[in-house]
Amino acid sequence: MKDVRIVVCGLGNVGKAFVELLAERAPDVEARYALRLVLAAAVDIGGAAVCDAPGGLPARELLAHLHAGGRVEGFGKFGRPGLSGPEALDAAAVLVEATPTNLTDGEPGRTHIVAALRRGREVVSANKGPIVLFYKELLELARQNRCGLHISAATAAALPTLDVARVCLAGSRILSVEGILNGTTNYILSRMRAGGAAYETALKEAQQLGIAETDPRKDVGGFDTAAKLVIIANVLFGPSFRLEDVPTQGITGVTPEDIARAGKDGEVIKLVGSAERVGGEVRLRVAPQRLKATHPLASVNGSEKAISYMTDTMDRITVSGGKSSPVGAAAALLKDLINAYV
Ligand code: HSE
Repeated sequence: MKDVRIVVCGLGNVGKAFVELLAERAPDVEARYALRLVLAAAVDIGGAAVCDAPGGLPARELLAHLHAGGRVEGFGKFGRPGLSGPEALDAAAVLVEATPTNLTDGEPGRTHIVAALRRGREVVSANKGPIVLFYKELLELARQNRCGLHISAATAAALPTLDVARVCLAGSRILSVEGILNGTTNYILSRMRAGGAAYETALKEAQQLGIAETDPRKDVGGFDTAAKLVIIANVLFGPSFRLEDVPTQGITGVTPEDIARAGKDGEVIKLVGSAERVGGEVRLRVAPQRLKATHPLASVNGSEKAISYMTDTMDRITVSGGKSSPVGAAAALLKDLINAYV
């Protein structure tokens, strides 16, 4: 049996869902993988809760405390007001980074991840910001310190994107990638088409599902899709892609009339992130596209997502499903965490 002590940074929708999943699945993981997952510390803006005892923090009680409006640093004898993410790392072997995505400077996630990698901790991140902005440096740091940087949860979460490409397409040449990578916009477009919902109503519903970004302009403006696309491209084609090089158009200009017109022609409008080899280079783009009903992404609806790879030797491989949800993101964190140790 191996003990894996975990510090979770960020206790928003995803961080809380992860703590909940940890509490629920720890016995299964212990039985199946001989890994004892222990919540050693949980950190948020005002401080942390830390427990050095072998069993770690009482996760369910912590959740009850948070759901009742309590702050993590006020969690009884475990509370440590002012304790930061890097300071809490002393208690753990793994950082689960779940603070909000910041696409300007990657903070505070970047500081957490750098501190963890420098100390040789495994990093599992749902936060896209540091991975989009500093992938090359973080990867190098991980290599130098012989630890892993695991990013499934930052690349469409429950939808397996990179795992499929890295494991199942190994040895194939990926010619193009097309993805519906954002659940919020797919939900909005689906509701506008099938239910005739107004854009604002559908966006509110997506927010109630807990899947929209803290600032939903990142979803509807296409930036969340672009962020995931940049990470995927950096992993698959080499780490030289930057957000500012991706022509990005969101869905705010898509009208009910556009959707109805496409429907009359048997087509649907989807927000697609694409990467295509053109000559010697790979070009990325995010834009709403009219897709024929036979296109593998056309029937992906609601908060589900999909990724379709065209390869030279395996032809087209499409994976779909993986609804955006806090639980789905938490499950992607747990998947990476388990796979880091088995
Ligand atoms: N806001 C994202 C989505 C979830 O709607 O898919 C986090 O990546």
